[in-house]
Amino acid sequence: MLRAIDENTITDAAIEQMAATPNPRLKQIMEPLVKHLHAWAREADLTPEEWLEGIKFLTAVGQKCTAFRQEFILLSDTLGMSSLINSLHDKRAAEAGTKSSLVGPFYRQDSPPMKLGDTIVTKPTNGLEVVLYGRVTDRAGKGVPNASVEVWQPDETGNYDLQKHDPSEMDLRGHFHTDSEGRYYLRTVAPLGYMIPMDGPVGDMIRAQKRHGYRPAHIHFIVGAPGYREVVTALYLAGDPHVDSDTVFGVTESLVTKVNEKDPGSPIPTLPSIKFDFQLAAATTKDMTGRVGADPSQIVAKA
Ligand code: BEZ
Ligand code: FE
Repeated sequence: MLRAIDENTITDAAIEQMAATPNPRLKQIMEPLVKHLHAWAREADLTPEEWLEGIKFLTAVGQKCTAFRQEFILLSDTLGMSSLINSLHDKRAAEAGTKSSLVGPFYRQDSPPMKLGDTIVTKPTNGLEVVLYGRVTDRAGKGVPNASVEVWQPDETGNYDLQKHDPSEMDLRGHFHTDSEGRYYLRTVAPLGYMIPMDGPVGDMIRAQKRHGYRPAHIHFIVGAPGYREVVTALYLAGDPHVDSDTVFGVTESLVTKVNEKDPGSPIPTLPSIKFDFQLAAATTKDMTGRVGADPSQIVAKA
């Protein structure tokens, strides 16, 4: 039967046309997408000019993507979408563990393998040398031996290696494994907060919204072990001026840490230190990756 299409009936018409989608999960994702997309256009009373502006914006976002830059993920991050996906992911865990935070655009696979106590600093630096240490434990607080601890961070000026050097040169990244008690420790420099990449369409959006564009100082981690759910997270430094207004909503209270000038419990007590224990939830058969983000070169390679 021919249907009268108007601003309300179009939603059911579109959903009905997708009703035969054989993949049940695709159907379950697309139906609410259309429903909420239409509701958004109705609520905003979107005009053709505005719709075209949106198309141009998304086109520019796609055109900004390269093997080392993922502007779509940056858009997701700045809209709070990546943080929301992380929260939904954490809620699905069999038991609570360290909260997830964003992967961000500067993750690289294959960071150099290192021994406990090594420094991840490979270039001359004026940064404040600090020790990062703690334990990787299970939910009950028992140490997880030989857990994988990948770490990456910006330097004391707020720049990642990818922003400074040829991408083949890695700096301020390392891949460690915990000892038999689940302990890890490494040396690095205290990072500085920085502005997200603002030279693309996402930067234009941030400026149009009068947002500052900063991320507070942080250090990224991916921690995992067989039988446990991998956690992708970051530690944020208390005292950073943007710790409560992160442009990409990665900060949550439990991930805020501080640099301790003197800590007799540190493996190198002569240096300032940051202590953090990671708690891993037991894996379930349903666990999927918690990486809301990726090494950008991997996304382009697969596309
Ligand atoms: C970062 O942590 O490096 C980051 C995360 C999201 C957007 C931009 C940067
Ligand atoms: Fe970062």
